[in-house]
Amino acid sequence: MPVPHDIAAETELWDAFAESAFKAEAEPSFCWTQYAGHGPGPELLGDPATVLELGCGTGRALAHLAARGVEATGVDLSPVMVAKATERWAHTGARFVFSQPPAIPGAYGPQGMYKGGFAGKAMYTYRYSYPPRVWERLLVRAGFRSADARVVEAPEPGHIGTLIVRARL
Ligand SMILES: C[S@@+](CC[C@H](N)C(=O)[O-])C[C@H]1O[C@@H](n2cnc3c(N)ncnc32)[C@H](O)[C@@H]1O
Repeated sequence: MPVPHDIAAETELWDAFAESAFKAEAEPSFCWTQYAGHGPGPELLGDPATVLELGCGTGRALAHLAARGVEATGVDLSPVMVAKATERWAHTGARFVFSQPPAIPGAYGPQGMYKGGFAGKAMYTYRYSYPPRVWERLLVRAGFRSADARVVEAPEPGHIGTLIVRARL
């Protein structure tokens, strides 16, 4: 069932995230998983001339790629994050753009989640959660030639893994 998005509320939530998550002293880094030094790195991208990151957050991954000559652009729903990332990383050549997408028509399988930290004003947002096989089916139906979805296990048994999906046009 489609989920009605409240863009103003989601922007407020991610602006709050930006205020706590952006660390000005952090260096560029690129890692697909949430565990430092674990899992695949930028090699999964091949040798791209350009990249576009949706929901680019702190911009550290784009700064990493921009410093290696890739034309890197990020879009993010949070104007606070876009401003911080631009100020911090513009010198690398990476570009950050505010984006305000509409809800995806027909999207289903949403999960509500509170913003990270469970402290402060109670705010929630939706995330879309499917098993790997369903992501592959959705992407192929959306027009990709092939799609490969898998979960990279966490470095510690029983901890949360990382879903990584590659799709080709
Ligand atoms: C948890 S951060 C992830 C940042 C980055 N991709 C990374 O792995 O470090 C999620 C980012 O996505 C942005 N975001 C959330 N929903 C979005 C949407 N619908 N369109 C664009 N950006 C969105 C948030 O503002 C936030 O900065």
